[in-house]
This record gives sequence, structure tokens and C-alpha cells, in this order.
Amino acid sequence: MSDLTGKVAIVTGGNSGIGKEAAVGIAREGAHVVIAARNPAKAAAARTEIETRADARGRVETIPIDLASFASVHEFVDVFTAKHDRVDILLNNAGLVLHKRATTVDGHETQFQVNHLSHFLLTNLLHDALANGAPARVVNVSSYAHTRARGLDFDDLDWERRRYRGFAAYSATKLMNVLFTRELARRSDPDVLTANALHPGFVGSNFAREGDIGLLGTIGMPLIRPFAISSATGALTSIFLATSPDVAGLTGLYFVKGKAVKPAAHALDEAAATRLWEISEKLTQA
Ligand SMILES: NC(=O)c1ccc[n+]([C@@H]2O[C@H](COP(=O)([O-])OP(=O)(O)OC[C@H]3O[C@@H](n4cnc5c(N)ncnc54)[C@H](OP(=O)(O)O)[C@@H]3O)[C@@H](O)[C@H]2O)c1
Repeated sequence: MSDLTGKVAIVTGGNSGIGKEAAVGIAREGAHVVIAARNPAKAAAARTEIETRADARGRVETIPIDLASFASVHEFVDVFTAKHDRVDILLNNAGLVLHKRATTVDGHETQFQVNHLSHFLLTNLLHDALANGAPARVVNVSSYAHTRARGLDFDDLDWERRRYRGFAAYSATKLMNVLFTRELARRSDPDVLTANALHPGFVGSNFAREGDIGLLGTIGMPLIRPFAISSATGALTSIFLATSPDVAGLTGLYFVKGKAVKPAAHALDEAAATRLWEISEKLTQA
């Protein structure tokens, strides 16, 4: 166990599933944990549960964020920085999979914005606070699904020109999570900031429970869910990367079950990582 007393952590999607369990683990080690969640009632309930389970009374806070809105990401950062001047751990965990194409208030395909663009924006807006937490850690929850993406279609990241395939769009965003991690690591001094990505395993969380994965998923998921690991087990690699002294200074890596492994070849494409960064900068005006 590390002692994170005095450290500040942000967990997006910390109200549910893997994120909530990761928040418990990080709070148990003494950090002040900010749950960034879109639903205030769910966030409040999670806060009470995390405080109780982590014995962290007064050290868990909720600040609203809707990752489907860039304005909301800015509001989150305004509220956060009015209260805190540092971020030691940023766990970009929130994510969703959608069967049908949907767009955000900013006009982007929803998975692209929630799973990638808004986390890109959040991380960049927190640049100074992360520098104050040096050596700060950014941990991005990707997925094995990134291996299913055959590269990125940079001419159609919003899926306007192709037939929409929800899982393909999801896989592409999970590839973006690894590319973003590697490019962030490349652009950062590891004494100031490290960035790593991970696959949590197949986890029986609330993920894809609300008919978001179409008929096949609705029929198939209940059949395979008994083989899923618990959210607590799925959170172990997130907690490890966020807190363990064993990974101090390690950066730009992709972890599965607590070990650095090679991601898919497309995730190692440095030109794609740079191009994604530059496009994301333009789209989010970060
Ligand atoms: N479960 C798996 O098998 C699995 C496998 C590989 C990777 N992952 C990744 O693990 C991460 C966590 O997922 P999970 O399994 O813990 O699923 P989960 O229980 O559904 O949690 C997802 C979290 O993301 C939040 N979220 C979704 N859209 C949002 C938005 N617009 N603004 C703010 N928050 C939003 C959800 O908020 P609400 O509660 O309000 O919906 C929830 O807190 C995701 O990035 C996912 O891609 C999961």
C-alpha cells in the first residue's frame, strides 16, 4: 500500500462499475477523490458508498461532468480548479458503447466524444494542475476491443460517411485511448507526468446494460455475463497504475492484469497518434 495522503485524484465515471471500485481503492490509500459523473443522484449515492467502504469520511467529493458536452467539461474544470490547485491522479475511466449512431450537443458521434475527445480536453485543461501534482499519473481505461479497430478513418471520425457499426465505433475509440496515451507520454516529461492505458478484463459492470448494444448484444450479453469478472477485480489494474510505487516513472504503456503488454500494431502507429492529437486539439479547441 502506498500512502496517498494529501494527493488529489479525479475518477471519471466514478459512480459505477470499474470506476467506483477504483475510487474505493484509491481513497483507501488516503487520497482525496473527486468523482466526475453526469448524474448527481448516482454520484451522491456512490460518494456515500465509497466513503463508507474506504473509511474515507470527508475525502470523497462529487463534481458534475457530462462528457457528451465540451461546455460541461469546461465547467467541471472551473469548479475543480476553484477548489484544488493540483491533480496527482487522473483516471479517465468513463465510457459507453452504443448500437445506434447518436450525436452530442457539439455535433460529434457520441462514443467519439465521450470516450475520447472529452477525456482529451479534460486532460489538457488540467495541464497546470497535473504539473502541480508532479509526478502526476494519467491512467486511461481502454479495452482489448482496441485490437478490433483496423486503424482510424481520419476522414470520418464522426461516422457520417460510413454505415454505422456501433461496436466498430467503440473499438475505434478504445484504439484512440491507447494512441492518446502514447502521444501524451511522448509529449510529457516523465518526471512531471506519466500516462498509461489498460484493459480491465471482461467485467460484469453496468456496461452495455441498457440495450445500447442492439438485439444481438441484448441476447448474447446475458449468456456471457456469468463469465465476467467483478468490477472490483476489473478495477485492480486501474488502482495499480494510479497508486503503485512499482510503476513510478513508467509511461506510454498498455497494461493487462497488472502487466505491461504490447498493444495492437495500429496502437503503435506514431504518425496516427500525432495526427489524432492534432485533430483532437482542433475539434476541442484545447
Ligand atoms: N465492462 C467491461 O467488460 C469493459 C471491458 C473493457 C473496457 N471497459 C471500459 O471500462 C470503462 C468503465 O466501464 P464499466 O465497465 O465500469 O461500465 P459502467 O458501469 O457502465 O460505467 C461507465 C461509466 O461511464 C459513465 N459515463 C457514460 N457516459 C457518460 C457521459 N456522457 N458523461 C459522464 N460519464 C459518462 C457512466 O455514467 P452513468 O452511470 O451515468 O451511465 C458510468 O459511470 C469504460 O471506459 C469501458 O470502455 C469495460
